[in-house]
Amino acid sequence: MITARLAYVSDPIALSDKELQDTAIIVVAAGSGTRLGYGMPKALVPLAGRSLLEHALDGIKLARCASQVIVVLPADAHELADRAERHPVKPLLCTGGATRNDSVRAGLEALRPGTERVLIHDAARALTPPEVFGKVVLALLAGARAVIPVLPVIDTIKQVATDPGQENAHITGTPARDMLRAVQTPQGFHAPTLLAAHRQAAGWETAAAEAVTDDAMLMEMLGERVDTVPGAAAGLKITTRLDLVLAESMLTPHPGKETPMTEQASSPPPIVVPRTGIGIDVHAVADAAEARPMWLAGLHFPQDQGLSGHSDGDAVAHAACDALFSAAGIGDLGTHFGTDRAEYAGASGTTLLTEAARLVREAGFEIGNVAVQFVGRRPKFAARREEADAVLSHAAGAPVTVTATTSDGLGYEGTGEGVTAYATALVYAVHG
Ligand code: CTP
Ligand code: MG
Repeated sequence: MITARLAYVSDPIALSDKELQDTAIIVVAAGSGTRLGYGMPKALVPLAGRSLLEHALDGIKLARCASQVIVVLPADAHELADRAERHPVKPLLCTGGATRNDSVRAGLEALRPGTERVLIHDAARALTPPEVFGKVVLALLAGARAVIPVLPVIDTIKQVATDPGQENAHITGTPARDMLRAVQTPQGFHAPTLLAAHRQAAGWETAAAEAVTDDAMLMEMLGERVDTVPGAAAGLKITTRLDLVLAESMLTPHPGKETPMTEQASSPPPIVVPRTGIGIDVHAVADAAEARPMWLAGLHFPQDQGLSGHSDGDAVAHAACDALFSAAGIGDLGTHFGTDRAEYAGASGTTLLTEAARLVREAGFEIGNVAVQFVGRRPKFAARREEADAVLSHAAGAPVTVTATTSDGLGYEGTGEGVTAYATALVYAVHG
């Protein structure tokens, strides 16, 4: 299934109560996710319908190797905090800082006194399989004071220097590839030593602090030996859109994957034919006498008079819902959110879209994407389009894009009496 964790075949390691008690995991999730460009903290970015942070916590739950889980969040990240609090690992939450080191230190300061072992994990490595946590903890229990998961390096790595005034670097050396490893998290440590190292590093000037790119480096600087265990390809750090696509595809079942080779040879894997859907929503702009807030595409536009209707009038979100229902063949807005459903009276567009996506998944589909075209004179959309994409994508747990146009003065959209939103959606049946 979509939410099934990848490749978790081995059992969790069996720890005694005391070993569990003395082990903690800190998940750093306080970064801004600038390179991913979703306009929200990276840990909140959706992957197959759940945030990266929730996926990371799923792995930790399955690993069952720590009694304390601490999640370090950006200041004022209320939705992320809500999601973390609702997760069954019941993490302790604390606020991070401007750099990853600051965030790790904040987590370490929140450890229960007497904690012996601590694993530091990036929320951005959302699909790290549970057995990697297990291997790190076992190495610590066997006496390591620092242990990190690593993978062989695939590319040849060069050392470079850039001459003053030059744009491009030139090569100064080629380290032997078999002596190099790519480093992942969770990184495990003797907790008091790592805390002391981080406290010391807190006083360093910016350049020295920025040169520290992982926690193991601080231990190396103290002359501590750092051991390794095998990492996992699924533990990639989700940094760019491409990484997100890769992670999404790792969670998507591939038809025929589990078919034995002999059967595969005689019967080709079934072709999954996607289904498209369409939805249209029209709303009148409310009478000037009635002060209505303008909500569209999940965003509030404070300069604009709102749309009429018994909901918030979010035509973009409503059209997206109808397109999803249409693609899955499970009725329409009236079927699911009609006036007989009192719980949806006055519900926001994003609430409805989240519920529509849930219903579509419950009906056995995964969502490819939703595209919405808005037609109207107001609100002016261009400056907030990316924000709208992010908010709606998060609500649907799948990519939603919004485009906007005016109608060249023609019709009710042209006079500003009303707006229209047209949406299409693509879904595909999930087998297995
Ligand atoms: N992190 C953190 N506090 C910071 C910066 C980063 O807790 N001040 C965390 C991130 O949330 C992430 C991990 O450290 O889980 C690795 O950082 P990175 O992949 O760089 O994430 P971001 O800083 O969020 O992304 P970007 O650099 O693109 O803004
Ligand atoms: Mg960063």
